[in-house]
Amino acid sequence: MVDGDIFRRIMGNFVTGVTVMTLPEPHGMTANAVSSVSLDPPLVLVCVDHDTECYELLEGGTDAYCLNILAEDQRELGEYYADMLDLAEDPFESRPMTAAETGAPVFENAIGYLDCTVEAAHEAGDHTIYVGRVEAGELLDGEADPLLFFRGQWAEL
Ligand SMILES: Cc1cc2nc3c(=O)[nH]c(=O)nc-3n(C[C@H](O)[C@H](O)[C@H](O)COP(=O)(O)O)c2cc1C
Repeated sequence: MVDGDIFRRIMGNFVTGVTVMTLPEPHGMTANAVSSVSLDPPLVLVCVDHDTECYELLEGGTDAYCLNILAEDQRELGEYYADMLDLAEDPFESRPMTAAETGAPVFENAIGYLDCTVEAAHEAGDHTIYVGRVEAGELLDGEADPLLFFRGQWAEL
């Protein structure tokens, strides 16, 4: 079996965008283990660590999530929802927000969002893969550059 550090270093070269996965509670968690799955029906997936509050909420009955795709000037949100940064004000209170159809928070300044109901949950090692059926979505700013994550660091295009 591959060593955990090597695994992380190899996968760190697979550059990703960054989302904040929001739950209706409300709750937010930075997530990049995200992928498109199916076009018809529209399905996505997100892998959630069993050590997170997000996982506890989803296992406790929360059946919807929204993936907010961050723009490069939203690194602060990426850090805050990864528990890497304290902010004086809760972004759900201080940032321009709306609610998606499922009730999950949407950051109005994100590049776009996908509002999902949980279609299936597959336990996979220390994570659970939550397949989401995309009920609604919006491209809020198709011109903005995305926030990236590469080799364990925030990056820009
Ligand atoms: C760039 C980045 C991407 C992340 N992606 C994921 C992810 O896809 N799944 C996950 O479970 N945690 C991911 N994390 C870690 C969570 O954001 C972190 O554990 C968070 O504090 C959990 O929040 P919660 O316990 O309040 O739900 C990521 C962190 C960073 C910095």
